[in-house]
Formats: sequence, structure tokens, C-alpha cells
Amino acid sequence: MERDSKVQYDQLIIYYFSGTGNARNAARWIQNTGQQKGVSTQLINIDRFDKIEVPGHFGKILIGFCCPTHGFNLPPLMLKFIFKFPKRKNCDVFLLNTRGGLKLYNWHVPGLSGVAQILPAIILWIKGFKVVGMRPLDLPSNWLILHPGLTQKAVTSIYQHCQPKVQQFTLKIVRGKKDRRALWTLPIDILLIPIAIGYYFIGRFFLAKTLIATDTCNNCDVCISKCPVEAIVKVNERPFWTYRCESCMRCVNICPQRAIETTHGYSTLVVFVSSLVISPFLMAGIKKLGAMDFFLQSVLTEKILTLINAFFFLVFVILSYGVLHFFMRFKFVSRIIAFTSLSKYRFWRRYKAPKQVV
Ligand SMILES: Cc1cc2nc3c(=O)[nH]c(=O)nc-3n(C[C@H](O)[C@H](O)[C@H](O)COP(=O)(O)O)c2cc1C
Repeated sequence: MERDSKVQYDQLIIYYFSGTGNARNAARWIQNTGQQKGVSTQLINIDRFDKIEVPGHFGKILIGFCCPTHGFNLPPLMLKFIFKFPKRKNCDVFLLNTRGGLKLYNWHVPGLSGVAQILPAIILWIKGFKVVGMRPLDLPSNWLILHPGLTQKAVTSIYQHCQPKVQQFTLKIVRGKKDRRALWTLPIDILLIPIAIGYYFIGRFFLAKTLIATDTCNNCDVCISKCPVEAIVKVNERPFWTYRCESCMRCVNICPQRAIETTHGYSTLVVFVSSLVISPFLMAGIKKLGAMDFFLQSVLTEKILTLINAFFFLVFVILSYGVLHFFMRFKFVSRIIAFTSLSKYRFWRRYKAPKQVV
């Protein structure tokens, strides 16, 4: 490929993590544009990484990090990767986070980044890197715990809308210009910081516990072998989601039997029982105990009580998930759980990013 005379880099290395394929496709678009302009380009998938691979390099190098947005933040896997990434003085880097875009009538509705750009940019800057590109990209939303997958028509339209943007972005940065478009929404992203912090806990400790394999599961183990963080294990011969789960939605979408469901009905019940029965009962007990002792009374401030409440909620969620997992071996329980899961119904489409995108 003949080299574009304006290109400033000799080598482009892109590290990516992708739950359902959007970030992988965006990384491939960057790779193709880089190659078309004569830059030697490498794509590295960071699934299940244990050590960080920095390929032998030559000349001027540009490093990119590409991944989805999870809960107004980067997925913990990518954050951990960036934290561990070796320090390097004055090396140029860029960040691209794919967000959950929607298409409503003819409107392309963008997702929200929260700290998915600012946080890694600060970490990389502290490590000595120069952040030359910060780009959010609104590919189709895959947040299937919350909503059904988009229609094929909407997915195709969003993809067609996004591809040229990535090409323009890549061209700009490989030619040595800066593109920090992510900073345009900085005020909104800053306002989202408390939600990003809250989601870190809710996502990991609650949402991950809303996934279950029903009796349609034939133990093919595809979910276990493809999980990017090895979060699914076998307990009593059935897939069990541990706290390593980042709810990336890969398992839900690749299951050949469509056997993985979000337990909408059961999880709602768990929240109701916890907040309307267990929590008031527990709080009344603790306050009564506090009233008996002056020291305890002074310690049990509203904040401490909220923390105790949250702790018991988490314990209750863990126990309920264990109980559910145990009883799912009975076909009628599995059927009830499936029946009360919105994801069981055909309208709750699964999401897989298009494969042929270049
Ligand atoms: C658990 C979870 C949390 C998400 N949080 C956000 C979010 O905070 N903001 C947003 O715009 N999109 C959010 N999304 C949507 C994804 O970031 C988006 O669909 C992304 O393009 C998926 O990329 P992937 O296919 O590479 O996994 C979320 C998706 C999931 C599954």
C-alpha cells in the first residue's frame, strides 16, 4: 500500500475489548484506514489478558484503546488493562469508546460516556502518554438487560452513519492532528460521575446476578468458553454467573439455544422483598438496639444505616441468586422464571454486531 505523505506514524497498535462486536468493528475500521494510508497496523484483543503484550516496534508509534461504555465508565477489564499498561514518555495514544446509540424515527440518538473517556485519559496522561484522540462512537446499544436488541434496519442504519466518522477520525489522527471530540460533552459527563460510581457496584453486584440459564440450556459451554473475563463457571452442572461478570452481554447473545435470560420478574421480586420487607424490619431492629445504648446511638448515623442497608441488600441478592440457581434444576421453576423474563419473548431481540463491516 502506498504511504500517504501526510501520515505521521510508522506503526499503529490497537488494543480492544468488545462484548458483542461493536468495539471490535470500530477497531477494524481504524485498522483498515491506517493500512490504506500505509501505516503498519496491529489489532490486539485483550480478552482474558494476563500479561500485556507490546509488540516490537519501530519508528513513530500510535497506540489506541477501543472498547464499549459500561455504566458511564470503561468496562473494568479495560480499566485494569490501562492501569497495568507500561509507562512510556511522550508516546501518542487515542481512546475510542463505543456507546449505546439508538435510532428513533430518523433520529440517531447518542449514548452517554460519563467517565469512559476522562478517566482513562487522566491515567494515561499520568503515565506519560500524550492523548491525541478522544472519540465516542454511537454504535447500536447492546444493553439487553434494559431493552430489546435493535431491529436489523436500525442496526444497519446506525452502522452506515458511524463508519465514515471513524474513518475521518483515524485519518485526522494518523496525519498528526488532534481530535478530542469527547470533551464536547464534558459538563454532562462530569454530572454523571455519581451514577458511574453507583453503577460500578450495582452492575457488578446486582445486574450480573440477573443472568441465568434456563432448562433450554444443553450444557454446550459456549458461554463459558467465550466469556472474556472467565466469569461463568459450572455449579451443579449448570452455568453460574460469578461476580467477575461485567454484564458485557456476550453470553446472552451468542448462546446457540437462546437459553440465557435476564430474570426480570425474579429480580423485581428480590428488590421488592428486600426494600419492603427485609429492610424496614432490619432498620427497626437496629434502631431499637441503638436506643438501648448511648454509644451505639451516636454511631448509627443515617449514612451508617444506609451502608448497613446496602450491605444486607447485597447479602440478600447473593443468597437469592444461590437459591434460584439451586431450584432452576426443577423444570417447573425454570419455566416460571423464563415466563416472567421479558428476554424470553421474541420481541426481546438479541444483539450481535454485523460481521461484514469493511
Ligand atoms: C452493562 C452495559 C452498560 C452499558 N452502559 C452504557 C452507558 O453507560 N452509556 C452508553 O452510551 N452505552 C452503554 N451501553 C451500551 C454499549 O456501550 C454499546 O452498545 C456498545 O457499543 C457495545 O459495544 P460492544 O458490542 O463492543 O460490546 C451499555 C451496555 C451494557 C451491556
